[in-house]
Amino acid sequence: MTILLSARQVSKQFTGLLAVNQVDVDVAAGSVHGIIGPNGAGKTTFFNLVSGLLPPTSGTLTLDGHEITGAAPYERTRLGVARTFQNIRMFSDMTVVENVMTGMHTRLESSGLAALLRLPAFRREERAAKAKAMELLEFVRLADKAGLRSGDLSYGDQRRLEIARALAGNPRLLLLDEPAAGMNPTETRDLAALLRQVARRDITLLLVEHNMGFVMDLCDRITVLNFGRKIAEGTAREVRDDPAVIEAYLGTKVAERLAKAHGA
Ligand SMILES: Nc1ncnc2c1ncn2[C@@H]1O[C@H](COP(=O)(O)OP(=O)(O)OP(=O)(O)O)[C@@H](O)[C@H]1O
Ligand SMILES: [Mg+2]
Repeated sequence: MTILLSARQVSKQFTGLLAVNQVDVDVAAGSVHGIIGPNGAGKTTFFNLVSGLLPPTSGTLTLDGHEITGAAPYERTRLGVARTFQNIRMFSDMTVVENVMTGMHTRLESSGLAALLRLPAFRREERAAKAKAMELLEFVRLADKAGLRSGDLSYGDQRRLEIARALAGNPRLLLLDEPAAGMNPTETRDLAALLRQVARRDITLLLVEHNMGFVMDLCDRITVLNFGRKIAEGTAREVRDDPAVIEAYLGTKVAERLAKAHGA
């Protein structure tokens, strides 16, 4: 088993709060890996450390054996790390297809002057970029909405648009922060099918989700955080049956769902 992403003793201290506390995680190449835990457990903070939005207080992160702990977010993008956000971030006034094109980090090659004068080389590149963006929209089933203003899309469509934009950078590792949030059951089922297809494209998925059915169904391996610490890790069945996990979720809706999964 090849490890694509490895976190070793990674911590993030905010004033008076250890949001991520000495966490070790290994994400196997080609796997779908979930991170779960109650609200405030440190899941998004961990994503911010992996994507480079925040520097860790201590610990190391490696991608494919190369240390990326101090690398800037754009360097990590170039190395193949892409993400979506818990609170959708996109250019609402741009069209759907334009938003996907912003995700292509292989910047158009021709010079700014060529772009300004709209020389043939520039127009050729632009056409190729647009064709690729349309392919991705086809893939996430948004092709028919390519020309719409992104801000006018439904919530579920905006989440799929974010995925298309993240895929536009040809990532090896895609971080998804609550991709099913705000989706209805049908949209959630479609999203799971879509993410399985992404995984088949040799893209490793690391996802945070509160929807337990979704996580358990999709993930090969799950890491459970609570108050910044890793409290459990394993297959869906292993973490579901882990007393520390049940304890962490006690009093939450998830605990009820876990109990149901146990046939209680
Ligand atoms: N920039 C910040 N400055 C200070 N504290 C922060 C910052 N970001 C997060 N926190 C705190 O760190 C803890 C972990 O937050 P984080 O957003 O990582 O949790 P989470 O597991 O993603 O929760 P949720 O499921 O609600 O999204 C919380 O107590 C949060 O208030
Ligand atoms: Mg979060």
